[in-house]
Amino acid sequence: MTTSNKTLFFAKLAALGLLCSVVAFCLFFEPPSDVCQPVLANVEHYETVNPNEKPILLLWFWPLGVKFDLKACSIHYNIDGCVLTDNRALYSKAQGVVFYHKNIAYNMNNMPKGPRPSFQKWIWFNVESPTNTGGKLRMDNVFNLTLSYRRDASITVRNELTIRETESEEDFIPPKKTRLVCWIVSNKNHRTGTIVRERYYTALSKHIKIDLFGIAHTGHRLSYEEYYPTIGSCKFYLSFENSIHRDYITEKVNGPLVAGTVPVVLGPPRSNYEQFLPSDAFIHVNDFPNPKALAEFLLALDKNETAYRRYFEWRKHFSVTPHLLSIKNEFIQPICLACDHISRDKDYHIVHNLFKWYRS
Ligand SMILES: *[C@@H]1O[C@H](CO)[C@@H](O)[C@H](O)[C@H]1NC(C)=O
Ligand SMILES: *[C@@H]1O[C@H](CO)[C@@H](O)[C@H](O)[C@H]1NC(C)=O
Repeated sequence: MTTSNKTLFFAKLAALGLLCSVVAFCLFFEPPSDVCQPVLANVEHYETVNPNEKPILLLWFWPLGVKFDLKACSIHYNIDGCVLTDNRALYSKAQGVVFYHKNIAYNMNNMPKGPRPSFQKWIWFNVESPTNTGGKLRMDNVFNLTLSYRRDASITVRNELTIRETESEEDFIPPKKTRLVCWIVSNKNHRTGTIVRERYYTALSKHIKIDLFGIAHTGHRLSYEEYYPTIGSCKFYLSFENSIHRDYITEKVNGPLVAGTVPVVLGPPRSNYEQFLPSDAFIHVNDFPNPKALAEFLLALDKNETAYRRYFEWRKHFSVTPHLLSIKNEFIQPICLACDHISRDKDYHIVHNLFKWYRS
């Protein structure tokens, strides 16, 4: 994790350096080359917008119709680089317009009709996995920025994983265990992605006892108060994502890490998880040739406390906090990140192949 962070940092530094030298080059010489086109064009456009006014970010729709305080960004996140509005009359002045995917997935006719101001950026906002992203409409060359959980989105929002590097002196003692393997399944639907995890669960459960929780199995939805103690009482937790996609690593892993339980993950490959989590914080189903081999490994760990405790050593260098699943996290935070982004980003962008990228 540290190494990839460093690589990323230097890559960013190099990109920034390159950008700076291009800008400097273009400002001081006036070469005829294409290199300078975007930069010069930008300067021109931004002069037409009053630089003393904060940029406007227009919410074309309230995501799923859920309204919140337009001052939320400064209240909750200390972000006040833009003016957030839902007033469509400000369309022609807005630097950014946010479209929540579900609001346009099946009908793009209610998007703005008038000409798009040259300085304006349309932002595609979607944090659902590709499997759960509906709609067959073509959305190529429509948007300028993407706002999603993907690390290669223009604006990345990752509020479900809260693990951070911090040194700790204390030894972590996992909570008392009364169960071996647990799984909470809220909806037992059979959309494409969920079949994989259901099938794996069925095979695994033939070799090891798995306690099930959640509305689909107990008829009772775990409350927030019950969530962490329940997971914490299990030695292992099945962190099976509902669909398998790059970077789609969610609260299903964060929850057990917070609770002091070892997540057994099913999702993208291990290498992708390691870009977010310490490699020894979880067990990946792909580490085993089949569910039976995984079950045998878990049963062996159950008998060897020393080996089990090794899955908590990462806590000497990292900490993790509960992720509150709320409207605030789900919608406000991404929009605030977009607000922050448009107040700084002065470049042109076009999202050419939206779904080709998203499904890659
Ligand atoms: C328990 O696990 C530790 C660490 O992997 C290992 O060194 C030890 O031999 C194991 N003990 C038994 C009884 O298998
Ligand atoms: C935004 O995207 C549109 C459509 O592709 C493009 O015409 C426009 O130049 C882009 N604007 C900015 C500011 O990036």
